Amino acid sequence: MYGRQRETSVIDRLLDEVHRGNSGALVIRGEPGIGKTALLDHAAGQAGSLHVMRRTGVPSETDLAFAGLHLLLRPVLHQTAKLPPPQRRALEAALGLSDTQGADPLLVGLGVLSLLAEVAEDGPVLCLIDDAHWLDRSSLQALLFAARRLEAEQLALVVTTRGEHLPGLPELRLSGLDSAAAAALLREADLTPAQRYRVLAEAQGNPLALIELPAVMKKGLYRPGGLPLSHSLRAVFHSQVDPCPRPRRRSW
Ligand SMILES: Nc1ncnc2c1ncn2[C@@H]1O[C@H](COP(=O)(O)OP(=O)(O)O)[C@@H](O)[C@H]1O
Ligand SMILES: [Mg+2]
Repeated sequence: MYGRQRETSVIDRLLDEVHRGNSGALVIRGEPGIGKTALLDHAAGQAGSLHVMRRTGVPSETDLAFAGLHLLLRPVLHQTAKLPPPQRRALEAALGLSDTQGADPLLVGLGVLSLLAEVAEDGPVLCLIDDAHWLDRSSLQALLFAARRLEAEQLALVVTTRGEHLPGLPELRLSGLDSAAAAALLREADLTPAQRYRVLAEAQGNPLALIELPAVMKKGLYRPGGLPLSHSLRAVFHSQVDPCPRPRRRSW
């Protein structure tokens, strides 16, 4: 990975804290292709003895209340019996495990915190949630509620999003790679100096753009004097980053 020393050291410090018996949360935020998933991969790679729970938000479930929590917690739901009864009932209601309708969001958030703490009783846990902008609002709310209350559970929660700022949690805001890192990444591509210059200018340090735009050039989809390369980039992002393309906005 090029040019992400600051970001990887923030992640490494968080994992060290968990190994030392503490907890913490981190939000990694940035545009498509900027390297959020790559940093989660780094975290997973550095997890060592931590028990990793990793899930990715999916656009088709954004409107399903508590679908995200179900995705994350399903493997550990057998542990709900250990929760304080009001929290257990609320969590089970939220996840469709009881006849009760209308789960209290406060109790669901507490239930998530207690359940993750129970899981961490068996050993330190690293929770990685990619593309949280696609989680349903109820799940995100409960997860953030829990994340803001982590103390000594030996639990780290790392969330990526391309969406809005998630208040109350430490954030790593990703911008483009600096010019040296971008040039190093592009060195792997077979381009003329002029093409290289053009790709560097258009990509603005976005790693996905740096990887994909050379292919766009090679296929002849870009012509000097024609549409800016970023128009081709838009096609790349819609086809590769978003598994469920939305109607295109004209002004991207
Ligand atoms: N710092 C980096 N150095 C080299 N390649 C990177 C770097 N960051 C991301 N990439 C690559 O760029 C592409 C897009 O990164 P990704 O993490 O999927 O972006 P995001 O999750 O923000 O949409 C992937 O192929 C990834 O491996
Ligand atoms: Mg990603």
